[in-house]
Amino acid sequence: MQKDFLPINGTDHIEFYVGNAKQASLYYQHCFGFSLVAYAGPETGVRDRASYVLQQNKIRFVLTTPLQPNSDIAAHVSRHGDGVKVLALWVDDATKSFNETVVRGAVPAFAPHTIKDEAGEVVLSAIHTYGDTIHTFVERKNYKGPFLPGYQSVKGSLQSKSVGLKYVDHCVGNVELGKMNTWVDFYEKVMGFSLLVTFDDKDISTEYSSLMSKVVSNGNGYIKFPINEPASGKKKSQIEEYLDFYTSPGVQHIAIATDDIIETVTALRERGVEFLRVPDTYYQDVLSRVGKINEDLEDLKRQNILIDRDEEGYLLQIFSKPVQDRPTLFFEIIERNGAKSFGKGNFKALFESIEREQALRGNL
Ligand code: FE2
Repeated sequence: MQKDFLPINGTDHIEFYVGNAKQASLYYQHCFGFSLVAYAGPETGVRDRASYVLQQNKIRFVLTTPLQPNSDIAAHVSRHGDGVKVLALWVDDATKSFNETVVRGAVPAFAPHTIKDEAGEVVLSAIHTYGDTIHTFVERKNYKGPFLPGYQSVKGSLQSKSVGLKYVDHCVGNVELGKMNTWVDFYEKVMGFSLLVTFDDKDISTEYSSLMSKVVSNGNGYIKFPINEPASGKKKSQIEEYLDFYTSPGVQHIAIATDDIIETVTALRERGVEFLRVPDTYYQDVLSRVGKINEDLEDLKRQNILIDRDEEGYLLQIFSKPVQDRPTLFFEIIERNGAKSFGKGNFKALFESIEREQALRGNL
């Protein structure tokens, strides 16, 4: 077997460009149970932006907002609304990661450079992926600070309590019609990922809309990127609705793993997170499809949690409504009990639910 030319230790962080990072940071602390751990902005000598770093177990979100009208960050927010700018990957060698991918055709976003403060040094480099999204390579083996050099440790005004979100399971990109294979090729050739699964419109179609999806994964399987493109249906696909409102390809959803989805979703609902609903009829014959599960079906039904099974086990999952006014980014909460798949058996029920929401927005 060929040596992995791009070893990745995991997701380092996900950076969102948002219209108001101060308020968004409270949203993720209050509703999703994150803790504020670090900050950079005018008070720390950064003039053009403010960034809040939130953490929960292995998940790190950075919320960045522009302080001036004429900047790349302001242009990004104007064009896309709140959304994901950076899917940052934790590597041992950010220079080699950059060189290996650029030589294979990656478009550089910025070249490797070292940043330092009294807690040590970090090497960063970055390449472009779909839309305005980038992958930053973060080499932090010589750093002991709270996030990156330049960020100061801070404590939030809220007493945050984790809701049991553990790590990023997968991040999904939406791309234009006909572009899915281009981006699958990119991840295979430029980043050395391999194709895990393919879903075609026979798997994922309802009366109205459908999509095509392929999932790529890195060598150790820690990074999984499904890529969706719209497929033609009678009415507008949910992927087209996303592309219309994000105005380009971008991150559609981030799936976060929990060890106890009933407890996590109960807490998220109490804190105000809204989820898509499937009809109660979903639960009438679900056990005949998925077989025996450890949870009480009534508990899952009460929280409207979905169930699916593959050859290796089963999974429980639920999807939030979009977390900004544009119908773009949303979250998935997932508990894996052996299953390594993505919930194909739930697609139909789920997409019918999404279409009900699209119809309410006048976009179907
Ligand atoms: Fe997902």
